[in-house]
Amino acid sequence: MSELLLPPIGMLAELTHRCPLQCPYCSNPTELMKANRELDTQTWLYLFRQAADLGVLQVHLSGGEPTLRRDLEQLVAGLSSRGVYTNLITAGVGIAEGRIRALAEAGLDHVQLSFQGARAATTERIGNNRGSHEKKLETARRVKAAGLPLTVNAPIHRHNIEEVPDFIELALSLGAERLEIANVQYSGWALVNRDALMPDRASVERQVEIVEAARERLRGIMNIDFVTPDYFATYPKPCMGGWARDAFMVAPDGTVLPCHAAHTIRSLTFERFGDRSLAEIWTDSPAFNAFRGTGWMQEPCRSCDRREIDWGGCRCQAMAIAGDPAATDPACAKSPIHARMSMLIEDALATARADGSNDATTFVYRRIAAVQEPV
Ligand code: SF4
Ligand code: FES
Repeated sequence: MSELLLPPIGMLAELTHRCPLQCPYCSNPTELMKANRELDTQTWLYLFRQAADLGVLQVHLSGGEPTLRRDLEQLVAGLSSRGVYTNLITAGVGIAEGRIRALAEAGLDHVQLSFQGARAATTERIGNNRGSHEKKLETARRVKAAGLPLTVNAPIHRHNIEEVPDFIELALSLGAERLEIANVQYSGWALVNRDALMPDRASVERQVEIVEAARERLRGIMNIDFVTPDYFATYPKPCMGGWARDAFMVAPDGTVLPCHAAHTIRSLTFERFGDRSLAEIWTDSPAFNAFRGTGWMQEPCRSCDRREIDWGGCRCQAMAIAGDPAATDPACAKSPIHARMSMLIEDALATARADGSNDATTFVYRRIAAVQEPV
């Protein structure tokens, strides 16, 4: 690592793995942590103070479902008192009356609300939770009533890709400032469910046209962010903005990671907050330095003129598909195994045709081993 090390700007705080939904596309690890492993209030507040000292400007409060933390208002207030921008990433189910307003009063800046479908039946089937769609609509109304900006998050896969036009209308009807059409990334539970979730190429192409036309039509009315599907890409995305480059995440037990799937790279050891400070982990951790910058790259990344645009793509995807975290992301057309992506798409679709997984019966729903009492 020879490049100048800059402070991180963003942090994803996975406050808990507990969640009322069981989405098969979840990016959480398949080994979910129970509540008794979560950091307590004071430790999170201490961690947030260190994050602010380190230069973090934005914290995304996520999970699992972060509103299951009864201390969420305290955590938001702690960040707000340090001038840190707070974004709540929520499924919007089971949030008590008055809680959104209380969070706004504590200093919350923004809410990102996920919808598993644009139609009630889809939302309920994907999240495996009856009545969830109506609860989400109510949460969206409360967010707007509290004067908070709203992003609707739509995680896209085979079972809802035809609802993209409806997602756009839904976000407009809720008064969202922003809609994120995010094609599912295959890590965590989503990797387990890859065959059941993979869309076909024609649907992906239709989706791109719909999103581009809507972006044009809604310019100045609603922003539409589009997270493209890696398996259908020519070039990879700069995952997390590049490994340990300007953002990091913290797991419920305080393990500090460069990204949500980093634990799948078994050759690396990730440190826990408390054993060392955030500043020490950010600066010195061998795991953070392993793929920082460009010094670690092999060919074709090493001599590629996009190496400081996408930073070689996703290390965890390289691990999952190439079996080598230092390989070029197979999503890249220059990767020697890029053709494997198309094969994985075809295999997934063939499996779906053979076992009838178009009706979602083959989902492996996300489940925690046992539900624990909230902190
Ligand atoms: Fe990015 Fe590496 Fe592909 Fe170049 S070869 S586009 S740096 S992943
Ligand atoms: Fe780990 Fe992309 S998810 S680098």
